[in-house]
Amino acid sequence: MTFSPFTPQLLHWYPLHKRDLPWRNTQNPYIIWLSEIILQQTRVSQGLPYFEKFVNNYPTIRHLAEAPLEDVLRLWQGLGYYSRARNLHACARQITYELNGQFPNSYQNLLKLKGVGEYTAAAIASFAFLQPVAVVDGNVFRVLSRYFGIYTDIASGKGKKEFQLLANSLIPADSPDTFNQAIMEFGALQCVPKSPDCDQCPLQDSCFAYQKKEINLLPVKLKKVKVSTRAFLYHDIACGDAVVVNTRHEKDIWQGLTDFPLVEYNSPENIDPEDSNLFQELQAFEPEVNYESEKTYKHILSHQKIFSNFVSFKVPGEHYTSLESWAHKRGFAVMPKSDLEKLGKPQLIVRYLNDKK
Ligand code: ADE
Ligand code: SF4
Repeated sequence: MTFSPFTPQLLHWYPLHKRDLPWRNTQNPYIIWLSEIILQQTRVSQGLPYFEKFVNNYPTIRHLAEAPLEDVLRLWQGLGYYSRARNLHACARQITYELNGQFPNSYQNLLKLKGVGEYTAAAIASFAFLQPVAVVDGNVFRVLSRYFGIYTDIASGKGKKEFQLLANSLIPADSPDTFNQAIMEFGALQCVPKSPDCDQCPLQDSCFAYQKKEINLLPVKLKKVKVSTRAFLYHDIACGDAVVVNTRHEKDIWQGLTDFPLVEYNSPENIDPEDSNLFQELQAFEPEVNYESEKTYKHILSHQKIFSNFVSFKVPGEHYTSLESWAHKRGFAVMPKSDLEKLGKPQLIVRYLNDKK
């Protein structure tokens, strides 16, 4: 444990402000587990009646295990996300029938239970078995990022590790249960997401975000960028030493770079050269066609994954003039291959051309 005034300040605040919640007056792992699974789904005020219903109907884990799944789902009604209720029931059976009714008593073994992740395992390990494992939930991210001034993205794997390590370094060995309850309660009541009442906060003197006036910037939670998949079929059309090229002008990736005429498909599996309108128009020039469906070039951009196939056409010299006028009508250019060498091209095209050599 590293010294920071955070822990003593938090442990001083907690008994003065904490709510009296039923799952806080017990070390029974079953009751604690039940409450945590319900509270993952909802706020305390909405979760309380569900907690009471479950405890009254199923006072022990054996009662829950022996209940028909339909009854459990019915009690869960209104909480949503029914896979949680199914897991709850499966976990009760796992413990009752496979573990002799004994709740695992360590963080590592708790993690093996159905529907129990790092957060729930830490909660049960600390509340029921006094193991010094810190819980890290949304409240904890918010409190620690503000107090310590940590700008790491809480949605990233790196962020999760960093906050878990910090929280584990702050948790006192003699009262891990109180610390975990306290930090969640502090996040729920004092250091709330919007406009926390910092003026009344006993931690303000040592709080980074308060001192730097950066409360609204913390925690940092970056949106996951949606990566879309695109499928291109490129047409490599050659006639003697000349090749048909396209300069990219549209509002899209690779503006200003030169590639080949292309048809876009809605998915890589749907790429089919004979289905492309360019392919059909090119038949007029009696080309020799080559297509290898298994040669797919994959190119990853920050927001797009591009799968490309190439179909090549060798047009006999006698059709040069008509090919050229077709290309111009279509907005393409015809140039010697050596000129294409000198132009800026997407990396995908460079790779294809190199493979052809
Ligand atoms: N939310 C999740 N777990 C909680 C707990 N043990 N007490 C209060 N709110 C919670
Ligand atoms: Fe949170 Fe404000 Fe207190 Fe800092 S001073 S811990 S931001 S409530």
